[in-house]
Amino acid sequence: MNKIPVITIDGPSGSGKGTVATLTAKDLGFRLLDSGALYRSLAVSAIKREVNLEDHRQLADLARCLNIEFGSGSVWLDGEDVSLEIRTDIVSKAASLLGTIPAVRTALHEQQLAFRKEPGLVADGRDMGTVVFPDALVKIYLTARLEERVQRRYKQLIDKGIDATLPHLLRDLKERDAKDSERPISPLKPAKDAVVLDTTDLQVDQVVQLVMSIVRDRLAS
Ligand code: C5P
Repeated sequence: MNKIPVITIDGPSGSGKGTVATLTAKDLGFRLLDSGALYRSLAVSAIKREVNLEDHRQLADLARCLNIEFGSGSVWLDGEDVSLEIRTDIVSKAASLLGTIPAVRTALHEQQLAFRKEPGLVADGRDMGTVVFPDALVKIYLTARLEERVQRRYKQLIDKGIDATLPHLLRDLKERDAKDSERPISPLKPAKDAVVLDTTDLQVDQVVQLVMSIVRDRLAS
């Protein structure tokens, strides 16, 4: 049994899981796994190498050799900073498509397990609590109303200097939510033992406080 504690934070796009996971990891002094960034980086790599997104075997090979590093809020792919590129519209769509391919998920599964190191890990994504870390100490599932999630994503993109429009984002999030929830393999859903938090009317620091109090209780028991 692996004793290294894992906190999983799953949920749909724009639910705030990335920000909450980052702040929670910082508070706890734990490592951070942004699993969405793995899917997104794989998408960038596949697009750059002109790999056909229907060639599942080649995509799985690419996923196994993915040379990705995280550091100071940036994502590096093959030594190149791709932090902005992975947030673009075309990459979001490709990442969502890659997430439906079983061979890709299996290849990335191994990579994700390798992030579990002392003193602990906070992992955010869609299937962290259900599939990748089923023995996590604490499982959180964040949700928020669609309109609120669209607003949050819009602000995030604009702050990063990436072009976005609200109607376009609304359509994009709806499409990705449907694809992520309806796929047969590792669909987006709360784990049976997850704490579900609706963050629509909460500020980020309130959500982090809630998560931290759940984690502290669990660590103490
Ligand atoms: O979390 P983020 O929006 O960055 O993830 C991008 C896409 O990667 C998601 O829409 C989803 O299809 C896929 N993904 C996944 N499983 C994860 C994380 C992300 O399928 N654990």
